Amino acid sequence: ERIPEVEELLSKMTLEEKIGQLNLLTPGGGVATGSVVSEDVEAKIKAGNVGGVFGVSSPEKVRQAQEIAVKSSRLGIPLLIGSDIIHGYKTTYPIPLGLSSSWDMELIKQGAQMAAKEATADGINWNFSPMVDIARDPRWGRIAEGAGEDPYLGSQIAKAMVEGYQGEDLTLPATMMATVKHMALYGAPEAGRDYNSVDMSRLKMFNEYLPPYKAAVDAGVGSVMTSFNDIDGIPASGNKWLLTDLLRERWGFGGFVVSDYTSVNEMIAHGMGDLQAVSAMAINAGLDMDMVGEGFLTTLKKSVEEGKVSEEQITKATRRILEAKHKLGLLKDPYLYSDESRPEKDILTAENRQLARKAATRSFVLLKKHDNTLPLAKSAKIALVGPLANNKNNMLGTWAPTGNPELSVPILEGIKNVAPKANIQYAKGANISNDTSFAKKVNVFGPRVQIADESPEALLKEALDLAKNSDVIVAVVGEATEMSGEAASRTDITIPDSQKKLINELAKTGKPVVLVLMSGRPLDISEEMSLPVNILQVWHPGVEAGNAVADVLFGDYNPSGKLTNSWPRNVGQIPIHYRMKTTGRPGPESGEFQKFKSNYLDSPNSPLLPFGYGLSYTTFEYTDVKASSGSLNANGSIELSATVTNTGDYDGEEVVQLYIHDKVRSVTPPGKELKGFQKIALKKGESKKVNFKVTAEDLKFYNSQLEYVFEPGEFEFFIAGSSDADFNGSFNLKK
Ligand code: IFM
Repeated sequence: ERIPEVEELLSKMTLEEKIGQLNLLTPGGGVATGSVVSEDVEAKIKAGNVGGVFGVSSPEKVRQAQEIAVKSSRLGIPLLIGSDIIHGYKTTYPIPLGLSSSWDMELIKQGAQMAAKEATADGINWNFSPMVDIARDPRWGRIAEGAGEDPYLGSQIAKAMVEGYQGEDLTLPATMMATVKHMALYGAPEAGRDYNSVDMSRLKMFNEYLPPYKAAVDAGVGSVMTSFNDIDGIPASGNKWLLTDLLRERWGFGGFVVSDYTSVNEMIAHGMGDLQAVSAMAINAGLDMDMVGEGFLTTLKKSVEEGKVSEEQITKATRRILEAKHKLGLLKDPYLYSDESRPEKDILTAENRQLARKAATRSFVLLKKHDNTLPLAKSAKIALVGPLANNKNNMLGTWAPTGNPELSVPILEGIKNVAPKANIQYAKGANISNDTSFAKKVNVFGPRVQIADESPEALLKEALDLAKNSDVIVAVVGEATEMSGEAASRTDITIPDSQKKLINELAKTGKPVVLVLMSGRPLDISEEMSLPVNILQVWHPGVEAGNAVADVLFGDYNPSGKLTNSWPRNVGQIPIHYRMKTTGRPGPESGEFQKFKSNYLDSPNSPLLPFGYGLSYTTFEYTDVKASSGSLNANGSIELSATVTNTGDYDGEEVVQLYIHDKVRSVTPPGKELKGFQKIALKKGESKKVNFKVTAEDLKFYNSQLEYVFEPGEFEFFIAGSSDADFNGSFNLKK
């Protein structure tokens, strides 16, 4: 359906003005993630050569930018104002991988709503989030930005985030347009190295990697960002199958597609030709907007003149950009997001910080319990040690350029806030890393990893002296912010040696030890899991880090997070995930090595910690797992249920998970697939029956013709608190 205002504008536009709308620039000042930062932005806006900018914020600056566009360009078309608001605007909440561990869709949606309210108060109307790339390789640093390994959970989260950012009506000033990224398969680079090639069968794409992008499209996402990688040998930004056949024709996407930062230009390095050739290839493939690289701006006119690109193709792309501006209400009121009174009312409010604190507590995953150390008494004598224990620089996590680390609550301060009567002694204990050249590499955006200038021996001695005189040791250890995220792949995903040494020495003291572990990825913590310690995974928790960690350590909130990635025993198991196929020669159930089976000589197949895993201060028991009947038919449904009982000593919350296994299929099925989950609260001693309604639609998959079908037959299922439970029920799907 055509929008009259847009059509009217289009009818007045010259070819150059249309191409101008396809150009996205940044004047710098934000985080430049490539080698280019746009020049002469103001002059280009006046000349009608810019459709949107990013890295500009505050109502005043955005008003100025819009005024330049509206008053000084010939047609006065307002700008899209973009930004990367990945986990909160100024009120930074946990990194997305952390928040996904909450399995709480309402909370995730609320986080996105809060981010939209804050960002729009500061003039931004277009967000480069959600990032929904399925990732099963923790070497890849950007695993931090997604929702883990599973297409079903990832799809639910994609939907919740799009709904949270965009709300019901994009013209409302507290909503902003979302961008699902990075289309597609960016989370599966070979060898876990960022920006590397991806090579994957269509069957795997459709069943495992594409569902979250599709879920975002189905939820009405306004724009899609392409990925840096190639797919079937064609870079995503120039891939017609991806951007037109799949996204628009098959999925019915009606918004616009933006490239990633200079990803059109990077098609030259991919081997696709010169700037004119790759720009023509991109627009012909269905890319609408070119981020920063100006390939469109500088070559498309020539390509039209030479017959390599049709003007109609350019008009289509321009129409989509103008329609986005219309949807946002900008064509009616270019200053909709320039209300100077909003930042003070809407940004970093006490209410927002409270939500960030709650979100952080819900993202933590209790990985190991030992000797009933947790929760801690609020009167305890605590030795708080570790390089991340009193470190504001590393609380926000990756991709939080709009957050201010100075406003974050370090763990030491949070513990003092929550347990003012505790006796707390602090010592750093170790450097994040003693490897100076490594530290320099991760310090691109600031001194996150202090260059090791303090003697490791002296640091360790100080911490051990405190530890020996305490009731309990809390050690905050792990990765600095920039050890994960973009361009931060690692081949060694263990805790750095400097900190391992501290951990081992603390464990030897015989005192109760709690490791509070920060990271932006699943780590290989095989060694730490074998020590007599407790381990609480807290990711990078955001601006309220210290308060949230203290809430959980002292039991004001009982941890309920569950892992959304399988944590490997070693890097040799990667890629690893719970949906592995059984193969024709399944590895032995016992985990004992067997010749000529699919297993390793030197490691079990199973992960160290499975997808869906997470402990609580209490315990939960599952009984009475059953199906309401033996079968369902194509139009019917079946109810699968279990009774869950809190059998421990604390009130708590549990993520109840349903997995099924399609026993016979025309294409080899995964060993198990998540098909539902519910987060429930149970008082100590309380039981609840949890029901899952399953229909034939829920049992669909893509077959070898890439048709979305269900096939009759037997399905096994289990309902449990983790993906590593055994099947204990079955039902039949009839024709
Ligand atoms: O949105 C990001 C993307 O995720 C990585 N490259 C830069 C973009 C804009 O900042």
